[in-house]
Amino acid sequence: MATQDAPVPELRSRATACAERLLEAERVLLVSHIDADGLTSAGIAASALERAGIAFEAAFEKQLDEASIAAIAERGYGTVLFTDFGSGQLEAIAERERAGDFVPVIADHHQPADAETEYHLNPLLEGIDGASSLSGAGASYLLARELAAESPGGKRRDNRDLAALAVVGAVGDMQASDGKLRGANAAIVADGVEAGVLEEKKDLAVYGKQTRPLPKLLEYASDVRIPGITNDERGAVSFLDGLEVSCRAEGAWKRWVDLTDDEKRTVASALVRHAVNRGVPAFEIDRLVGTSYVLTEEAVGTELRDASEFSTLLNATARYERADVGLAVCLGDRGAALDRAVELLRNHRRNLSEGIEWVEDNGVTETEHLQWFDAGDEIKETIVGIIAGMSMGTDGVSRDRPIVAFAEKNDKETKVSSRATGPLVGDGLDLSVVMGEAARAVGGDGGGHDIAAGATIPSGKRAAFIEHADRLAAEQLG
Ligand code: C5P
Ligand code: C5P
Ligand code: ZN
Repeated sequence: MATQDAPVPELRSRATACAERLLEAERVLLVSHIDADGLTSAGIAASALERAGIAFEAAFEKQLDEASIAAIAERGYGTVLFTDFGSGQLEAIAERERAGDFVPVIADHHQPADAETEYHLNPLLEGIDGASSLSGAGASYLLARELAAESPGGKRRDNRDLAALAVVGAVGDMQASDGKLRGANAAIVADGVEAGVLEEKKDLAVYGKQTRPLPKLLEYASDVRIPGITNDERGAVSFLDGLEVSCRAEGAWKRWVDLTDDEKRTVASALVRHAVNRGVPAFEIDRLVGTSYVLTEEAVGTELRDASEFSTLLNATARYERADVGLAVCLGDRGAALDRAVELLRNHRRNLSEGIEWVEDNGVTETEHLQWFDAGDEIKETIVGIIAGMSMGTDGVSRDRPIVAFAEKNDKETKVSSRATGPLVGDGLDLSVVMGEAARAVGGDGGGHDIAAGATIPSGKRAAFIEHADRLAAEQLG
């Protein structure tokens, strides 16, 4: 195949090697992470394996550690494909490989641990940023492309239709948080657009354009706070009623997708004017418009049509022990699995809003370089990181320093999640190092990305952990 067929040429030879190894396998155990990126990674890998005629079974883990890697080895597969994790646990995985337990194939984007393995596809190994340029789903997509290239035949010969899921994974990992997808991600978007499964368009950058009634859309859009609209139902309604656009049809509120392009422009410019008049600064107003990724093969007005809504739907399954539901949706189930996912989404939304409220009510504690809160068993450990990220910038939670969140995992262990901002990373902060080193210093382990990372530590080690993390952040931020 010609090189122009490789969306990310730097990673092609790694992807080819991984694909060739999988094609030699008799059967493969596919193991992935339990978040939106992990589920889309698994969806892409599962479709590609199936299309290539490779027998496989899929499994999910909250995180990889010695115990889960041992359990994976127990299952007796000769080849294990890890997606959206694996790089950070390479030492433990390589040890299993040396022992002859299985041959690992890894498609990941997390900071790699200090060990070598042959079939390892990770953007960071080729100088591509794993936090902002390629997600686990993106790495899995590159692998899927090579699997197709190495095994021609089949219906979708090039697997480019899977670019839509790759974009959902990247958006779910917040890789479009500065407005649009860039770098390797942009190359994948281009593939999806060419394949006719994706549309990229400039649009209002608020969550819920497909499914939320207009007043809710504006009221809940808290990324940019607009006085008189954000968190203000009556304000949002009176703003909409004051426009020359009919925002209702047969007595019910329309959604953003129900408006014509002209009407959307009218509402958007009125919103900008309203924000300017209320003193919202220009750099914030810029963030009101961004790039939307539309999955063109999905029905209009559903969670699946918008990459951002789709990713939340997936988080609502896997983070509540229902990865099977999310995977089925990724694989095309638009019946029972989708219905169940939508139900789970209602529960997830309620948990997120209660969690954010909990943080607002209880506040954070500031150290010199960090701020932290300990939710105990008030917030589920699988979503405490999402809540920590969402709470940055709300009342009492600053964006000037990283946030560290604790939640009870079980009676012996505490989960830690941390989130930063682009400017803090620009100043030298790397949370994957902070979490990893501080956790290991207290007998735990952790890792992740510069801007978002996590750890598991023994219960009772919170104070010592914070002390280490604060010192490490101080060193990095100079
Ligand atoms: O394990 P994984 O890489 O999939 O998780 C990434 C996590 O990092 C997500 O929860 C995502 O929300 C967070 N993140 C973030 N801001 C970024 C990049 C990632 O909060 N800019
Ligand atoms: O769990 P949370 O959303 O906080 O995870 C943030 C990032 O840190 C994710 O990319 C996750 O895979 C990573 N992480 C890790 N090791 C842990 C916990 C989280 O690498 N023990
Ligand atoms: Zn990921």
